[in-house]
Amino acid sequence: MNAESKSTQDLKEGLIPKHVAIIMDGNGRWARDRGLERSEGHKEGVEAIRRVTKSANELGVKVLTLYAFSTENWKRPLKEIQYLMGLPNRFFKRFVPQLIEENIKVTVTGFEQKVPDLTKRAIEKAVKDTKENTGMILNFAFNYGGRAEIVEAARTLSDEVLAGKINPKDINEEKFAAHLLTSPLGDLQDVDFLIRSSGEQRLSNFLLWQNAYSEFYFTKEYWPDYNEELFEQAIKEYQERNRRYGGV
Ligand code: FPP
Repeated sequence: MNAESKSTQDLKEGLIPKHVAIIMDGNGRWARDRGLERSEGHKEGVEAIRRVTKSANELGVKVLTLYAFSTENWKRPLKEIQYLMGLPNRFFKRFVPQLIEENIKVTVTGFEQKVPDLTKRAIEKAVKDTKENTGMILNFAFNYGGRAEIVEAARTLSDEVLAGKINPKDINEEKFAAHLLTSPLGDLQDVDFLIRSSGEQRLSNFLLWQNAYSEFYFTKEYWPDYNEELFEQAIKEYQERNRRYGGV
């Protein structure tokens, strides 16, 4: 028996986090350490996405949200932004047949503004081609920012109040969450387990509302080195956590 199948057997089926969110960090440093361009790190990062998606789906994760491009990433050099904007097209062309075979549904969480048409079309096509799938949701946070999302929800709610559609007294956490970009995820909106690779220990404006009660896991490996075994190790640690949600 190899180490991988052994670790799968060690996992408790009933304790798989429903919503796993990942900050895929370290692509640039992975490339730098090899004397390569940063884009080579992102290219390898895509391979890690394939491995982890397969593993998460097989383990029974319901939603896997990946932080693929943040609203702050527009500050990067133009060449890198252009490379990242081209990735959905290249990635989905190759990957969608596998997603269909594995019954995985692609969704996207983020703002449309500024995203080039070609990139939007590639993402929309992947969403459309997999929309009948009933298995795991592979959700790309693309041009996403947590604060901007909360501000936008507040703005939409204010409009509804002004239009007399909602009484301010009726605004509660549930109603607010229903105005967030992740609302199509319904009762799977909240993140159970947040993983960040590359040794950095911060949230970087990622799913600020949805991570309110999630368990955090920081791992030193760079994202392009991430694989099934490391993902299972992370899930194993999650299963040892004691989630109390403010109780005792
Ligand atoms: C962080 O590493 C990574 C990113 C900002 C981009 C991650 C995107 C992908 C892996 C591909 C997305 C794919 C699709 C299909 C949308 P970094 O560049 O900040 O690394 P560093 O901190 O070492 O410089």
